[in-house]
Amino acid sequence: MTASAIILAAGQGQRMKSELPKPLHKVCGVPMVKLAADSVRAAGIDRIYLVIGHGGEQVRQAVPGINYVVQAEQLGTGHAVDQCREMMAGVDGPVLVACADTPLFRAETFKDVLTFHQEQKAAAAVVTAVVGDPGGYGRVIRNEAGHVQQIVEERDALPPQKQIKEINTGTFCFDSRLLFQYLAEITPDNAQGEYYLTDVISGLVRDGHTVAAYALPDPEEALGVNDRIQLSQAEQLLRRRICHRHMLNGVTIINPEQTYVEPDCEIGNDTIIYPNTYIQKGTKIGANCLVGPNVRLEAAELADHVIIEQAVVLQGRIGGHTTVGPFAYIRPGTVIGSHCRIGDFVEVKNSQVADESKIPHLSYIGDAIVGSRVNIGCGTITCNYDGKQKHQTIIEDRCFIGSNSNLVAPVRLNKGAYVAAGSTVTEDVPEYSLAIARARQVNKEGWNKMEG
Ligand code: UD1
Ligand code: CA
Repeated sequence: MTASAIILAAGQGQRMKSELPKPLHKVCGVPMVKLAADSVRAAGIDRIYLVIGHGGEQVRQAVPGINYVVQAEQLGTGHAVDQCREMMAGVDGPVLVACADTPLFRAETFKDVLTFHQEQKAAAAVVTAVVGDPGGYGRVIRNEAGHVQQIVEERDALPPQKQIKEINTGTFCFDSRLLFQYLAEITPDNAQGEYYLTDVISGLVRDGHTVAAYALPDPEEALGVNDRIQLSQAEQLLRRRICHRHMLNGVTIINPEQTYVEPDCEIGNDTIIYPNTYIQKGTKIGANCLVGPNVRLEAAELADHVIIEQAVVLQGRIGGHTTVGPFAYIRPGTVIGSHCRIGDFVEVKNSQVADESKIPHLSYIGDAIVGSRVNIGCGTITCNYDGKQKHQTIIEDRCFIGSNSNLVAPVRLNKGAYVAAGSTVTEDVPEYSLAIARARQVNKEGWNKMEG
C-alpha cells in the first residue's frame, strides 16, 4: 500500500535561542527540514504533509512543492500530527511520522521502517535507539516480555525510568486510521501540558494493538537537534558521513574532520582534498584534481587534473589541467579553459578565458573575453566600470599584455596584439600591433647632486 509521511516542523525551537525557526538551521549547508524531506522523498514516499507553524512561511519555502498544514498554536507533537486529520481523511495505509529536527535519518532507514511495520503487521512501529546519554529524549518502556508499553518524556519520567538508555527517536510508522483514531483521545495531562504524539503508543498497547520497536542499527541517526551544541554534533556526523562516501568512491581526503563537503556534490576519483576546504552545493570536481588547502568552491565545476590552492570559486567553471591560486578569486559567470594558469592575487569576474592562457599574478579581469594563448602580465586591470555601467574588454588569441597595464573598457585587442608594460589602453589595438600608451621617459642628468 502506498505510504504517506508527515514531517513535524512547527515548533519554535526555544533552546536554539534564535530568530530563525529551528527547521531552517543548516546542517552541512542544508536546512534541517530539507534534509528530513529529502530523505523521506528518497525513501520513495511522494505523499508528504509538512506541519508548519512558527516561521511557517519561511519553513515552507525551504521545501517547495510539498503539502502543508498550519499548526497555529504549538500544543505538542500529537496536536501537530492531528492538524493533518482533515487533509488525510481519505488516506489509508502506513504513515511515516518524522521530525524536522532529526536531520540524520537516512532514506534507507525510512524504507526499512516501512518494511518492518508491514512485516510485523503492526499498528505502530516506533523507531528507537540505544544511546550512551539519553538525556532530553523520551524513554521507551518495555514489559518483561520486551514489548513496548509506553514512551515517557524525560520531564515525566520517574528516576528508574530515567536510567533507561533506549530512547524514542521521534520517528514512527503508524496505520493511518488508527493514528487519527487514537490521537483523538490524548490529553495534555503531563509535565509540559502538551498533547504528546507518544501517548498514542500507550493507547494502542492498552487496546491490544501490535506496537513494534525498530531499534536503529546506527544510533547516531537518532540525534535530535534542540540546541546549538547538538547542531554542531549533527554537522560533525553528517560531514563525516559525506566524506566517507567520497572516500569510498576513490577520493583522498587528507583530514575529513577539516573538510566540509555539502550533500549533492560530485568528486572524481583520485582527486586529493587538502584540509580546510569547503565544497558547497552544486559543486562538481573531476578526477585527479588537487584541491586545497584553504579552498572554497560554491556551485563550481572543475574538470579533471585541476590544481587549486587557497582560492575561492563561486559559480565558475575551470577547465582541465588548469591551475588556480594561491590566493585567487573566481567570481560568478567565469569560464576558464584548459591548461590555463590563474595565479596569485588574481580576481576574475564574469569573464571567459580560453585554453592555454595565463594570468599569473596580481590582476583584475572583469567582464572580459580572453582568447587562447594570451599572456596577461602582472598587475593588469580591466577598467570595466565607469561609475555607471559595466563595459566589456575583448582580448583576442595570442595577445600579450605587458605588466601593470590598464585596459579601459569597452576596448578590443585584436589577434596577436601587444601592449607595452605600463600602458593605459583606451583605444582598440589592431592585430599583431604594439600599443604603447604611456609617457616617454625623460632622464635629467645629474639631477641628484650627491657628494662623493
Ligand atoms: C520529541 C519526543 C521525544 C523524542 C524526541 C526525539 C514527544 C512528546 N516527544 O521530544 O519522545 O525522544 O522528540 O528527538 O513527541 N513540533 C511541532 N509542533 C508542536 C511541537 C513540536 O510541529 O507543537 C515539532 C518540532 O518542530 C520538532 C518535533 O515536532 O520538529 C519535535 O518537537 P520537540 O519539541 O523538539 O520534541 P522533543 O522535546 O525533542
Ligand atoms: Ca527535539
